[in-house]
Amino acid sequence: MSQEIIQQLRNDAKEWILEAGELIKESMNQPFAVDTKKDRKDLVTEVDRRSEQFFIDKISEKYPDHKVLGEEGMGEEVTSLDGTVWIIDPIDGTLNFVHQQRFFAISIGIYIDGVGEVGFIYDVMADDLYEGVRHQGAYKNGTQLDPIDPQKTLEESMIGLNNTWVIPNRRLDEKKMQELSRNVKGTRSYGSASLEFAYIADGTLDAYITMRLSPWDIAAGMIIVSEVGGVTTRVDGSEIGMLSGNTVVCANQAIHQELLTYIIEK
Ligand code: IPD
Ligand code: CA
Ligand code: CA
Repeated sequence: MSQEIIQQLRNDAKEWILEAGELIKESMNQPFAVDTKKDRKDLVTEVDRRSEQFFIDKISEKYPDHKVLGEEGMGEEVTSLDGTVWIIDPIDGTLNFVHQQRFFAISIGIYIDGVGEVGFIYDVMADDLYEGVRHQGAYKNGTQLDPIDPQKTLEESMIGLNNTWVIPNRRLDEKKMQELSRNVKGTRSYGSASLEFAYIADGTLDAYITMRLSPWDIAAGMIIVSEVGGVTTRVDGSEIGMLSGNTVVCANQAIHQELLTYIIEK
């Protein structure tokens, strides 16, 4: 892919994500409808849908041959990663958006023939913009991020981990997760997967483990984290797929390897 095209995509994604952030902020001052999806904790608002529609309109107008894979399913159905696919979460952290009016992000990953080229995560209320471009580094608000510390050990680590996986649950051996929680320096749960990736990139977190993520939660984050030397796989160590749900473990190489030994699927 030519650098000119990558640069153009980068400029457009940046312009549109900032604009979408403004739209979301404006919408927050007016009442909006909140619906549930899978269960009472899985929310979607008309602001999520409007934000996704905004990207679809922009992308289809400028790049009619590109595909959009968005959480709210407002684009066409995407069954292959051939060509250019924009993988978008219009609001990642909707529960935070509704209940806290902050700690949510917009996430955009641009994949070309299955390869992650450009990723943006925008923490709207903090006005922090994270960007990653394949082989060109990761940035926070325009400043290049340092590589994550390859020497950092698990004992020194802050881990993004939801307590769902530490109490009895259907997916993981909770005893091992309790042991992990005792052995690390601290655990945190931020409620926005894309922000947890962004936090690994900027050193706020050292790792992130979760059992249920969709492509739009991780498409941008994986590109950004990879640019600072982080590794992301499923919890069995296999490669993440961008057309399916995934379990996720993300960290520096050494911590990643060690984490795999704690994550025992039931
Ligand atoms: C959710 C958030 C949350 C993660 C969930 C996601 P949404 O995304 O990223 O942190 O634990 O698995 O579904 O629904 O707020 O876009
Ligand atoms: Ca999400
Ligand atoms: Ca979402």
